[in-house]
Amino acid sequence: MPTSDIGLDKTLADLGVTQPEQVALRFAKIRVHFQEHFQTVHDESEWKSFRDRWLGRKSGVLTQITDNWLKPATPQLKRAVGASLNELRAHVESQIEARRAAIESGAEESALARERVDLSLPGFIRPTGSHHLIRQVFQEIEDIFFSIGFSVVEGPEIETPYYNFEALNIPEFHPVRDDMDTFYLELPTGAKTPLLLRTHTSPMQIRTMEKQKPPVRVIVPGKVYRRDNPDATHSFAFHQIEGLAVDSDITFCDFTGTIEYFVKEFFGPSVKTRFRPSYFPFTEPSVEFDVSCPFCGGTGTAAGGGTCSKCKGAAWIELFGAGMVDPAVYGFVNYDAKRVSGFAFGIGIDRLAMLKYGIDDIQVFFQNDVRFLRQFP
Ligand code: PHE
Repeated sequence: MPTSDIGLDKTLADLGVTQPEQVALRFAKIRVHFQEHFQTVHDESEWKSFRDRWLGRKSGVLTQITDNWLKPATPQLKRAVGASLNELRAHVESQIEARRAAIESGAEESALARERVDLSLPGFIRPTGSHHLIRQVFQEIEDIFFSIGFSVVEGPEIETPYYNFEALNIPEFHPVRDDMDTFYLELPTGAKTPLLLRTHTSPMQIRTMEKQKPPVRVIVPGKVYRRDNPDATHSFAFHQIEGLAVDSDITFCDFTGTIEYFVKEFFGPSVKTRFRPSYFPFTEPSVEFDVSCPFCGGTGTAAGGGTCSKCKGAAWIELFGAGMVDPAVYGFVNYDAKRVSGFAFGIGIDRLAMLKYGIDDIQVFFQNDVRFLRQFP
């Protein structure tokens, strides 16, 4: 293996190594390389070039590590590099010495050495990962809804305008399309229908009801896309969980009770909820759910005095949109609007995660910087 393959000719910074774990991985690779090389050394001349390659003063591997990795390392990494280098040096020196002894004591031993597997070698440290915070919040919410009889369905991120809009009672030219008519795919001429990246998880209300007779109790976790310019609270891709419950006897009380149960499970029993009238073409009545600010106890005042930074003194935080399914929607899925009723909601996951875990910039969810991710093991 040439030196450049294991990165010896670059500095750690050039290799993108910023964490001690990454240093450990780099050294683990070098050990593998050493071991491979070690297997091929059977006689004195091979042994000599082996020794020079690893311990040679001018351009041996250990010298290169010292010059290119250790010396320019950042103060945070220096300890880790120094410690790994010392371990590696001890290992290399003892192995090289052992091989010399084996070669000197005769061909048979060296043949034996060829077969040898050194069980005393330390294992490799492989860092374990964890779920992304968004995935964790999805799971937390799914568990809450599982406990009250909902199941999970998932659907396509590329949708037709029919499912994304029309069947949700949003006809073409309806003004609410303005902030949603966004990422259309370029298709060959003559394509049957335009396609777009779904702007919400609501199309799965339609797809689920098309497939299934009532009762329906589902939640739909997934990614959605809108033409938002990125800033601390906007991203062109974000996450939602849709909820839909339809049955013969679902009332507004079931609706508010379910939402309230969810919010208390998620934020803790002391929060209060309220809803305000709102508008969505596929729910009637439509509401916007608010929760009393879990951070200031709904007072608007921060613990040490002053305005609560989370609710900006409003004492309430706007959570998500919801409502009773508009009977017009049932017409699109062949449900009898006179016999069924239900409710739907669409929860923005990123916002909820930001609130619950005190994160002030949505972009960190997409940058995947391990220094951020590692805070949520
Ligand atoms: N789909 C709506 C949105 O993304 C949210 C919603 C879902 C509202 C279900 C009502 C019912 O804005």
